[in-house]
Amino acid sequence: MSVPHLIEFAKTGSAELGFITVAQNSELPFEIKRVYWTYDTPDSVVRGHHAHHDLEQIIFATSGRIEFDLENLRGENQKFILDSPNVGLYIPKLYWRTIMFSHQAVLMCLTSQEYIEEDYIRSYTDFENMKSLHKITESK
Ligand code: TYD
Repeated sequence: MSVPHLIEFAKTGSAELGFITVAQNSELPFEIKRVYWTYDTPDSVVRGHHAHHDLEQIIFATSGRIEFDLENLRGENQKFILDSPNVGLYIPKLYWRTIMFSHQAVLMCLTSQEYIEEDYIRSYTDFENMKSLHKITESK
């Protein structure tokens, strides 16, 4: 399904001992090529402000709370909140994201590609131009 959605992963363990959650390629919508994580992000920091030409991601808040505002090429917005370490947010390509961090959130991201700076759309004006082109293509 190439729309953003939450994926709930199994949680093994107990409240007494703690839990383990596993992500493996056979159960994911893409093959993992890279993993990165962000940490020591001050509360209320806003990051993101970009989209990707091709990259797909599954993002976790392994601790804390992370709020996402996603916008697609139709200009439609969708909000998601991550606050459970066993729930990931799948983000397809071509979604502009704004990411808000709180409760000392740690973000972990699984990606479908290695790092390619050219895959980033970092200018919102460029994204808006892509939205206009998309509108023309859709109306044909
Ligand atoms: P960026 O993806 O812009 O982070 P965010 O959207 O969370 O603000 O990345 C921040 C910086 O880190 C940017 O200079 C690129 C660099 N970076 C890498 O070198 N490799 C990577 O895999 C990632 C994700 C970022």
